[in-house]
Amino acid sequence: MITAGPTREYIDPVRFISNPSTGKMGYALASSVCARGHQAILVSGPTCLEAPRRAKTIPVISADDMHRAVFENLQGVDAVIMAAAVSDFKPASHARLKIKKDRASLHLALKRNPDILHVLGKMKHSYYLVGFAAETDHVMLHAQQKLLKKNLDMIVANRVDREDTGFGSDFNEAVLLFKEGKNKRIAKTSKTRLADVVVREILSHIDRGQPSHFC
Ligand code: C5P
Repeated sequence: MITAGPTREYIDPVRFISNPSTGKMGYALASSVCARGHQAILVSGPTCLEAPRRAKTIPVISADDMHRAVFENLQGVDAVIMAAAVSDFKPASHARLKIKKDRASLHLALKRNPDILHVLGKMKHSYYLVGFAAETDHVMLHAQQKLLKKNLDMIVANRVDREDTGFGSDFNEAVLLFKEGKNKRIAKTSKTRLADVVVREILSHIDRGQPSHFC
């Protein structure tokens, strides 16, 4: 199972909180999984991308929707890759009608969204669990902390404060950190190639000779 893209947290019917994720990394992962003859379930936030034809794609909007879709489809899955940029917060209330601008200011109260990956880590049984860490500073330190805190098997850490990699770009530069303590540095490359490296690593760890569910 692969999650991809941003989530949208609606304030009123026409406004939402989100982030610049385009879903390219998650879609590249799903394509790589399908190209190897495995089954991919792609849980995707709103993107402009065409889903890989052979993946089972489940479109979602908010973090709550994504949370639901992940847990409803988890059975039989060998690996979960959380490549989605899930919004950490959502508006505390959702206005049913469009909020008018006839006031000098507007205070928006926010509340936490579920941390899907954290929950997956806490209840982990047979699946291999991979997270992404989009960082602007102290990449290795923050990624290492997330690997431990979220009980992951692997984390893909990358910087998102550079123009030519990360959000929206076709390229990425990353370090793969494994729970065994090993690191693998991937120099700037296409998201397609990075996806292949990540998928190969996962397959070598779960050691499945046969095509399987990759969720
Ligand atoms: O936001 P954060 O840096 O903690 O994201 C690290 C990982 O956690 C990513 O793989 C992301 O998909 C996942 N995440 C999640 N639910 C959230 C926030 C992040 O599953 N609410």
